[in-house]
Amino acid sequence: MTDRFPDLFETPRLTLRPVALTDAEAIFDGYAQDPEVARFTIWAPHRDLTDTVAFLELCLAKSPADARTYALIGREDGALRGLLDLRRTKPHAVEFGYVLARRWWGQGLMTEALGTIVAWALAQPDIFRIGAVCDVDNIGSARVMEKAGLNREGVLRRWLVHPNISAEPRDCYGYAKVR
Ligand SMILES: CC(C)(COP(=O)(O)OP(=O)(O)OC[C@H]1O[C@@H](n2cnc3c(N)ncnc32)[C@H](O)[C@@H]1OP(=O)(O)O)[C@@H](O)C(=O)NCCC(=O)NCCS
Repeated sequence: MTDRFPDLFETPRLTLRPVALTDAEAIFDGYAQDPEVARFTIWAPHRDLTDTVAFLELCLAKSPADARTYALIGREDGALRGLLDLRRTKPHAVEFGYVLARRWWGQGLMTEALGTIVAWALAQPDIFRIGAVCDVDNIGSARVMEKAGLNREGVLRRWLVHPNISAEPRDCYGYAKVR
């Protein structure tokens, strides 16, 4: 039985370690106030550092058995590049979410991080499924999941509100990899 999410993941270019309150400034300055980054997210761009601290407090309140939020740290410079969130939605299934600061987009970093997470998840004896959803217009996110080996399972109609696009719930693609 896998009873908690690990303390560390390593990829060729990144270390993934649990977020800390001391990451607030790097997260706020790096991406959380950026409307372009928040375009397809369920959260509004942060207005000041207190928004980021409140978000981190919610992350840290969760049990590592149920959910864990990791900071993506560049191995070459130790700088925070984004976050990746894991959730045990059922005993046999994991869901994830991710975000990367805009200056780091387009270098394959999230594909690299997600590939490591997917391999880890499906190597656990009790995890059979890992997946996520993305807005139907979030082409970059859909592509990351495809490159990490997930399959598009269908369209979830009116699945999530992405408030920076519209107040109405939007259609999402569901992606997963199973074993
Ligand atoms: C989605 C996100 C994590 C991708 O991270 P990334 O490290 O830039 O992704 P990668 O470089 O690994 O791969 C991105 C792929 O999408 C493609 N892509 C990105 N935007 C695209 C667009 N508008 N149209 C077509 N392809 C696009 C890239 O070309 C690349 O595919 P390729 O290698 O076949 O060329 C990043 O853009 C991000 O943080 N976005 C904002 C937050 C977000 O939307 N999170 C997901 C919510 S579901």
